[in-house]
Amino acid sequence: MTQPTLSIRGIDMFQGYLDPQAQVSLLDDLRDVIRQAPLFSPVTPGGRQMSVRMTSAGRYGWVTDSRGYRYERRHPDGGEWPPIPDPVLAMWSDLVSTERDPDCCLVNFYGEGARMGLHQDRDEADFGWPVLSLSLGDEGLFRVGNTTRGGKTESVWLRSGDVLRMGGEARLIYHGIDRIKPGSSTLLPRGGRINLTLRVVD
Ligand code: SIN
Ligand code: MN
Repeated sequence: MTQPTLSIRGIDMFQGYLDPQAQVSLLDDLRDVIRQAPLFSPVTPGGRQMSVRMTSAGRYGWVTDSRGYRYERRHPDGGEWPPIPDPVLAMWSDLVSTERDPDCCLVNFYGEGARMGLHQDRDEADFGWPVLSLSLGDEGLFRVGNTTRGGKTESVWLRSGDVLRMGGEARLIYHGIDRIKPGSSTLLPRGGRINLTLRVVD
């Protein structure tokens, strides 16, 4: 099993996990995903439009609107979520488990100015399963807090190909993305950052 390169508040980091060639190839798979399940602009239950655009692959997709944060079997436009690309499942088998696959691969796209406020991932039935998260494209400033709201935080820049594993005590840690650094990667021709988040849902 691959060993972490760094640990920050119990979150394991695998820096440079995907090499540039693997990133380019995965990007092709993600283009297929987005063709079948287009990115949409989610709205929080409180009515605020999020600055990221998102879609999903897998048995479930994560969505939010006035009815709340939740997992759904179908894309908001009514279509099916595409299958999770094989290289993503391989990453999960290597870093989490061969026992079962993740149910959801959330795809977040950050254009210039997009961010993600501090939050916990807590819409899943079983927090015994880690969350795995991959960064592609421009660098993102990741902020880590605590397992309860408030308190001191720490930040680390996530680069294209880096993977985070949030499990054990760190499964319910508050985390977010303060900002991206436009122009810091040439992976995406028009710039921006993609984050894939893998989770077991039920
Ligand atoms: C998330 O927590 O939903 C996204 C984190 C990231 O973009 O790295
Ligand atoms: Mn999250």
